[in-house]
Amino acid sequence: MKDTLRASVWLVIALITIAGPGAISVDETRARGADGQDSTSTVYRSPTAVVVSPNGKTLYVTDRTAGRLVILDAAGKKKRGEIALRGKPQGAALSADGGTLYVAEHGAGSVAVIDSAKGEVASRISVGRWPAAVAVAHKTGRLYVSNRDNHTVSVIDLNQTPAKPIKQIEVIREPVCAAVAPDERHVVVANQLAHGVGTDPKLAAEVSIIDTAALAQSATVKLPPGSTIVQSVCVSPDGKWAYAVHGLGRFNLPITQLERGWVNTYALSVIDIGQGTRRATVLLDDLSQGAADPHSVVCSKDGRRLWISHTGVHEISMIDIGLVHELLDGKVPEDLAALKDGTRANIWVRIAQDPSHTAELENHLTALYIAGAIRRASSGGDGPRGIALSPDEKTLFVANYFSGTVAVLDAADGKLQGSISLGPQPEPDAVRRGEFIFHDAASHAFQRWHSCATCHANEGHVDGLRWDFLVDGIGNAKDTMPLVNLHKTEPMTRRGLFASSHERTRKGLESTNGLVPTKQDAEDLYAYLTSLRPVPSPHLTPEGKLTKAALRGKLLFEGKAACADCHVGPVFTDNEMYNVGTASGHYQEKDGLYDTPSLLEAYRTAPYLHDGRALTVKEVFTKHDKQGMHGETNALTEQELNDLVEYLLSL
Ligand code: HEC
Ligand code: HEC
Repeated sequence: MKDTLRASVWLVIALITIAGPGAISVDETRARGADGQDSTSTVYRSPTAVVVSPNGKTLYVTDRTAGRLVILDAAGKKKRGEIALRGKPQGAALSADGGTLYVAEHGAGSVAVIDSAKGEVASRISVGRWPAAVAVAHKTGRLYVSNRDNHTVSVIDLNQTPAKPIKQIEVIREPVCAAVAPDERHVVVANQLAHGVGTDPKLAAEVSIIDTAALAQSATVKLPPGSTIVQSVCVSPDGKWAYAVHGLGRFNLPITQLERGWVNTYALSVIDIGQGTRRATVLLDDLSQGAADPHSVVCSKDGRRLWISHTGVHEISMIDIGLVHELLDGKVPEDLAALKDGTRANIWVRIAQDPSHTAELENHLTALYIAGAIRRASSGGDGPRGIALSPDEKTLFVANYFSGTVAVLDAADGKLQGSISLGPQPEPDAVRRGEFIFHDAASHAFQRWHSCATCHANEGHVDGLRWDFLVDGIGNAKDTMPLVNLHKTEPMTRRGLFASSHERTRKGLESTNGLVPTKQDAEDLYAYLTSLRPVPSPHLTPEGKLTKAALRGKLLFEGKAACADCHVGPVFTDNEMYNVGTASGHYQEKDGLYDTPSLLEAYRTAPYLHDGRALTVKEVFTKHDKQGMHGETNALTEQELNDLVEYLLSL
């Protein structure tokens, strides 16, 4: 059925293409999305990535909710047409001549290869199930695809017809962006989430460097403690530096600090690709203005400027990275050197005197501002995600997710010059309004310090960190919980402190974000959260079935391992509290009682247990169940344990 619909769209596109050169256009009322839904009034336009053609005339924009690639006329500021794609289209990249466009079809396990002249999908390349981003190595004729589902980067040989997958290279956790160095010997990969145990005070996300000759990860660069949501990375034109943008959570401190910022900050890390080391990490926030949720970063051809989109605050920032490098090298202009930090020399002078002070930049909220190395401007719409420069670098195009538009900004000063609509944008309903609130820090958090999505990344999931909220005392941090199915897992929080999911949602705005929400905001947010559905596990077979090992694990789970005594029903919890031998020793938790968590989507919620002490689900009932209080696993063989793990990862 779906295929018939899709075929009819191709036919419409093909006919129109034949009818008039460049007139790729699909009748708005008849077009159908990837999921077979009618694309009229109920489909929101949500631009995600934007790519500019080599002549600067055409913009290719992926639309996540409509499931389309939208083609825009950059100069005429109007839509030229669109192509229905599979899954939720995300990252895109063009071949050097602009003739071929590659689009990651997230959830569909493919990259669509689009003939840009004909405006149609020429073929598809099989990759991981959740491809997030694509990068083309033009000289060597390769495509690198970041697969979030299985933590790999697919390498595709474009010189063969059809293009041939060569290898999936293992990286660390949920890669969402890959950037090819100009000499094409290295590819730098942003692993989105922190990966490690919650009890590690140095817990952080890492950037992977791939050696393209060896086809393997050759180095990993750890970001500062608390780094997570690494969304984007770009490489300097000389191939020396990679720039990664990310969150930097102050997760080792109790969350009282919200009033002074500091709970979540946002950073740019400068990575030396050849050395495989981190040169510095600078903060993008101002003293009382968080720069929440950086999403994309692009670099100018002369390597002196960077542009970053901040999806939580609806801004872009413009960084004089040339100046930042000079300052890091100890070259401080006279007027800046004269500026004092209280009674002592300012941070840049201190670095010039002693480079070991470079590490202080990770905690310095004004370093870029006092140097005049950062400027922020409105993104010209709500929820900016992908950004791209025109070939002459005079214009910055910004995909504004919630507005359904691509804003056209002056790249020099960020002034809005116009905006191009992807199509009619329906009035937001409660769920869409809630989705906005969930991702918004500008008007839904004290001093813009974070959005719900900063910690509950990827539509209500996790950041891989743990946080010390005050409601249950200090010194007992809790691993961030996923929010999918929250209304079916009451009571809320690890200690069951809130009876109602509705109440806890409002509290999220009130205590975690530090503001008094309107009734409407709280209702909308709740409507969004309860609309979230679990995504089928990538560990299932392509047909969505349990593997043989997982089937054996299911029998154990429901049988002799006795897991289903507590993890029961459709969301795998009886909603009761138990002591399963994981007491933290904290004076308020002497009883060792924790709410039985849902196990749905356990494949993506690491680390595990209330304080995140377990890195893998296997550790939950091996390393962290020495007393045998958590199910009946002591008598299981190694093979049986592995089968149980396979089942847990399939939920
Ligand atoms: C600083 C990181 C952070 C931010 C920001 C954040 N949360 Fe949370 N959230 C957490 C952590 C950590 C927990 C687990 C707390 C516990 O168990 O005591 C949690 C738990 C929850 C729960 C309970 C889930 C359950 O199944 O019991 C809800 C609901 C929730 N958050 C909603 C929100 C909403 C809504 C927002 C935005 C208004 C938000 N959170 C912002 C970190 C965060
Ligand atoms: C007596 C009730 C009970 C039984 C039986 C039980 N669990 Fe649990 N389970 C819990 C509780 C309570 C927690 C939370 C403990 C904590 O946070 O420290 C938990 C946590 C977990 C987690 C961590 C989830 C997360 O997101 O942090 C996994 C995985 C898990 N259980 C799997 C199993 C398996 C597999 C079995 C069978 C071998 C099992 N459980 C048996 C009550 C139970």
